Amino acid sequence: MLLPKTSLLCLGLIFVFSSCQKDEPIPSLPQEVMVVPVHFPKAVYDFGNFPPDNKKVAIGRRLFYDELLSLDSTISCASCHNQSSAFSDGGRQVSSGINGAFGFRNAPALFNLAWKPLFMWDGGIVNLELQPIAPLTDAHEMSISLNQALGRLNSSTQYRSLFKEAFLQETISTQMLLVSFAQFLSSMVSYQSPYDDFYQGKEAALNAAQQRGLKIFRNNCHSCHSEPLLSDFSFRRNGLTITSLDSGRQRITLNIDDRGKFMVPSLRNISRTAPYMHDGRFETIDEVLENYMHPQNINQIDEAIGDGILLSVQEQSDLKEFLESLDDKQFLNDPKFSDPIN
Ligand code: HEC
Ligand code: HEC
Repeated sequence: MLLPKTSLLCLGLIFVFSSCQKDEPIPSLPQEVMVVPVHFPKAVYDFGNFPPDNKKVAIGRRLFYDELLSLDSTISCASCHNQSSAFSDGGRQVSSGINGAFGFRNAPALFNLAWKPLFMWDGGIVNLELQPIAPLTDAHEMSISLNQALGRLNSSTQYRSLFKEAFLQETISTQMLLVSFAQFLSSMVSYQSPYDDFYQGKEAALNAAQQRGLKIFRNNCHSCHSEPLLSDFSFRRNGLTITSLDSGRQRITLNIDDRGKFMVPSLRNISRTAPYMHDGRFETIDEVLENYMHPQNINQIDEAIGDGILLSVQEQSDLKEFLESLDDKQFLNDPKFSDPIN
């Protein structure tokens, strides 16, 4: 499906429309809060009573980088989600939280979250606003109670005045905290890779090998890693051996049919998000492709993979080149998402 490249739409009625000019790069849109790329489907996050605005996004960004929100003030969200790795945990199989405690899953990349219906590898969290409660309170991550976090924020004159300006309230509440996080997280939109240009009709954005790779992708991978978000957000078994450590979607539904199913991850910025899979078991794309060609768990595998997806050496090489076209350098380097203090 090819769509004409037209102007970006901005979400919400409060936006100053003159700031939504055609093809303008993101940083020069002063009033813009969250871009909705024309070639994306409708986002699912509901801003409810709090239409997106720059002040709340700016607070969310500050909170994301602030170690104050962990019990011993050593860990921030960004400790496990760093921008140059598309907000995954650059190279680490599992992340370490306070006191060097390790979790059991690979930190996913963070972008296009306003399009996700469910969060975490097992879909255990149903709303973007509830999401930060998990890392804040998890003993392996930031290990702080919401009351403690609010106490610290309320004793900071700086945070109090920022929140007051954004929410017109004296005391920082749980809702104000969670809404600010959700607004920053939903502003992180990745949509400017060479693949996106090609998808919108710019043929020259992909070279010949990448265009061949895209065909192979559409024949073999697209049914789960659906375009243009590169995931259909369903829970599938893609042929990995299931470990007793993690039953995936079954942990949430308690349904035996869901054992070993995990949410299909988006493949955007995939060259930056190694190691791969829910437990970071593969270090390279070659290992990932090897798993699809010779899947481990044939009995319980998704029918879209069947006995395996056989690819010639040339096809593997074309497919890998295509995957590189999913890197969105604008997103990876966008100052809008970096640490506001440094
Ligand atoms: C100690 C490392 C660590 C810290 C600190 C951390 N995270 Fe995460 N994050 C993870 C891991 C691991 C997962 C996947 C957990 C799972 O699937 O069970 C995750 C998942 C997420 C997701 C879900 C993404 C998706 O696509 O489903 C979001 C959003 C997120 N984190 C945001 C945050 C925010 C906001 C903070 C700070 C309040 C934070 N994280 C702090 C490691 C961390
Ligand atoms: C049946 C659905 C399905 C098909 C078809 C499929 N995948 Fe996946 N893919 C998944 C699921 C589910 C995961 C996550 C599995 C896990 O972590 O346990 C995944 C993970 C990945 C990852 C790791 C992403 C990350 O962030 O860790 C890559 C890379 C990948 N797939 C590439 C491909 C390619 C290339 C193809 C086509 C050759 C393909 N996939 C076909 C469902 C599928």
